[in-house]
Amino acid sequence: MHPDTFSALAERREKGDKDGMSLTAPDIRFSVAPMMDWTDRHDRYFLRLMSKRARLYTEMVTADAVRFGDRDKLLAYNQEEHPLALQLGGSDPSALAEAARIGEDYGYDEINLNVGCPSDRVQSGQFGACLMQTPDLVAECVAAMRGAVKLPVTVKSRIGVDEQEPREALFMLVEKCARVGVSHFIVHARKAWLEGLSPRENRDIPPLDYDLVYQLKQAHPALLISINGGIENIEDSQTHLGKTDGVMLGRAPYKNPYLLAAVDRDLFGDAATPLSRTEIVHALIPYAERLVKNGSPLHALTRHVMGLFQGMPGGKIWRRHLSENAPRRGDDPQVLVEALALVEAEQTKRAAYEAVQQAGE
Ligand SMILES: Cc1cc2nc3c(=O)[nH]c(=O)nc-3n(C[C@H](O)[C@H](O)[C@H](O)COP(=O)(O)O)c2cc1C
Repeated sequence: MHPDTFSALAERREKGDKDGMSLTAPDIRFSVAPMMDWTDRHDRYFLRLMSKRARLYTEMVTADAVRFGDRDKLLAYNQEEHPLALQLGGSDPSALAEAARIGEDYGYDEINLNVGCPSDRVQSGQFGACLMQTPDLVAECVAAMRGAVKLPVTVKSRIGVDEQEPREALFMLVEKCARVGVSHFIVHARKAWLEGLSPRENRDIPPLDYDLVYQLKQAHPALLISINGGIENIEDSQTHLGKTDGVMLGRAPYKNPYLLAAVDRDLFGDAATPLSRTEIVHALIPYAERLVKNGSPLHALTRHVMGLFQGMPGGKIWRRHLSENAPRRGDDPQVLVEALALVEAEQTKRAAYEAVQQAGE
């Protein structure tokens, strides 16, 4: 990347420039990963109740789906979800530019290009992780997207695919995209194997190389670099934040969403007290009422909230009540109220038992 571009970026960032084209470090300090079938609008509404600061990403939507599909179904979201990035998949610069423009019209805060997803379906359409092999094409895509919108355009990638040498593949991709003005990169710190591993295996089997992502940040201090892959909690996030600008977590906050309740305080230094789990359920009830009134099944929401009491007394009862009742009574938000009452009864019982135990000691 040309040194002038670096210093111009750094200078703009220092001034807190929010001209729409660039992000600042606090914008990307903590984010929840795009996850197909998981981070839909209902999940994101739920996640937002726990953290006002976390940056949220949509599931990947292909450029052609945005151009030709049912846009409202694919792109509509709740205003509460901001800051919110739309992740696009594709490899045709003009199609991506058009999809990015449509995303901008919908009010998203960022357009992200998926260069990391290894699924077969995605490979056959020439997008996702296989694009690591064609960095010039990726740069062409992001240049076209940047030309079409005022929003920040960002890239989420792997460190390489198949036999690529990761340092070369990752740095090449980042440098080519930075040259056309991209300044934020999210790196899932493992390779993807395009043949022989399923998408799921590709999220666990290739070893993580966090060091390479730290080196990327060191080599390009003016770029914003977020690290992703296998980060389990806030403590580990803090460690990574010593070496990168941002962390992105996917599976951990999906399985244990209440970990987000510590994000604003512990990672952003905010003073506000997060909602308790009980308050979150109360906040979900009017949302569930609107949801079913608009014709969606209750389960579209409850399937995302199963982990709310993860590791707590009553966690199992919560999950069981929701999974047994929400699909059957698809238009009845009372299921949430009942599940909460069962959790509270279990917690009271457990506290009384512990008090008796302590008295006997
Ligand atoms: C169910 C599921 C769906 C995913 N879908 C996407 C996707 O649409 N776009 C994408 O870039 N990554 C996708 N990913 C990968 C995640 O964004 C993330 O990079 C990966 O899970 C590693 O982060 P983690 O270890 O914190 O989960 C998906 C992951 C999961 C578990």
